Amino acid sequence: MLQPWMSPALGLVVLALTAAVVGAAPSGGAELYNELYRPQFHFSPQKNWTNDPNGMVYYKGEYHLFFQHNPFGIDWGNMTWGHAVSPDLVHWKQLPNALEPDRLGTMFSGSAVVDWDNTSGFQTGKEKTLVAIYTAAGDTSPESKGQPFTQCIAYSSDRGRTWTKYDKNPVLGHILGGNRDPKVIWHAPSRCWVMALFLDGNEFALFSSPDLKAWKQLQRITMKDCGECPDFFPLHVEGEPGNTKWVLTAANGHYLVGDFDGEHFTWQGDPIVADHGANYYAVQTYSDIPASDGRRIQISWMNGGKYPGMPFNQQMSFPCDLKLRQTSEGLRIFRTPVKELKKLRGAPFEWKDRTMKPGEDVLTGTQGDTFEILATFEPGDAEKVTFSLRGTPVTYQVKDAKLTALGREAELKPEKGRVTLQILLDRSSIEVFGNGGRVSMTSCFLPPKADRSLHLTVEGGSAKLVSLQVYPLKSAWK
Ligand code: FRU
Repeated sequence: MLQPWMSPALGLVVLALTAAVVGAAPSGGAELYNELYRPQFHFSPQKNWTNDPNGMVYYKGEYHLFFQHNPFGIDWGNMTWGHAVSPDLVHWKQLPNALEPDRLGTMFSGSAVVDWDNTSGFQTGKEKTLVAIYTAAGDTSPESKGQPFTQCIAYSSDRGRTWTKYDKNPVLGHILGGNRDPKVIWHAPSRCWVMALFLDGNEFALFSSPDLKAWKQLQRITMKDCGECPDFFPLHVEGEPGNTKWVLTAANGHYLVGDFDGEHFTWQGDPIVADHGANYYAVQTYSDIPASDGRRIQISWMNGGKYPGMPFNQQMSFPCDLKLRQTSEGLRIFRTPVKELKKLRGAPFEWKDRTMKPGEDVLTGTQGDTFEILATFEPGDAEKVTFSLRGTPVTYQVKDAKLTALGREAELKPEKGRVTLQILLDRSSIEVFGNGGRVSMTSCFLPPKADRSLHLTVEGGSAKLVSLQVYPLKSAWK
């Protein structure tokens, strides 16, 4: 996405760092983490700006979430790696910043891994080393004037609490344009690290390294309509033991599915759209999730959200579990919120086997601002089935088999005559998952303060509500 430091006309990175340090915006005196538009179960920084999730790695019971952060301002700038940890992907604790700008540049996006076999040689004591692989964005600060964008590493021997930058940085010099956003994974069969890197335009590349320090280029890959923040990982095809595919995603989440032998990635077709909402960007998945868990967990930056008067700016999407399934259109990624969300559930309002008729509102009187809604319905002869969430409609249009929300739409065909929806409503976002994650729509919104109502109505005919559960969600910050 176009950032203030990019000049599309010149294709150059321009100096955008402002010396001005902007203080936190007023939040109307509300208690921290309880402000009007503060997400209650999505990560947002205590104060100031964030964009991409970075360095997502799991180690010894902690999910680390680093994030592109401006520690000094409510808008983008002074890129630094902020840091938060969570025991469960739901409750986050923000820690001191991890990587700060230096003479090579400000700290742009990247990844982190656990160096289990000490391939880098950084390990000194018993604790395994965490290695962060990031872009030093040269020429984006007075200190890095004239430097290009390069790829660098830093390591931590204390479970991510403190970081040392490698003294021979960069480990990968400038290749092309604003090359950036290294995402690294261990490829066990070839005993090599593999890096996916964004080069420029729609160009990406894969590299390999035995030690995270010396990198050789394997391949260049063009991804139509894609740029920035690649991720590259294996996914099992559900229900087909032994069938593992490799997935390459770009910042917008679009993905290619193919095979990788440690040297070469092969795939067929154009990138596939993963999410149909307006605010799904800079996707990244966790590294080093234990095999006993086996999940591939993805978080995106909900870019484009507005948070007037808040001390923070921007939020992350709720972590989702990715599954690869055969469909009539080929292999597709299914995204669903991680099960840990259940920890926040209060007592549900429940309905079963009920006919919904025009003029009725199944959710009459339901009020609140944070909910998980699970619904299964048979559209019957209704034209529309609509959830209205604090005044914002999420509609299933029966004739066109379309889901619409906040100006976006996605095709969603009933399966065995039924449509299922899972909706996460937070104070400034709505995420909708249809038919077990076959489609998802990640969206930010700004609800009117006075409207905390939920409604479920049908138009044009009757539909059958097979089941409905509406869980009020507790705040993850309390
Ligand atoms: C994506 C991105 C990355 C870059 C970072 C800078 O949103 O533009 O390509 O590393 O943000 O903050």
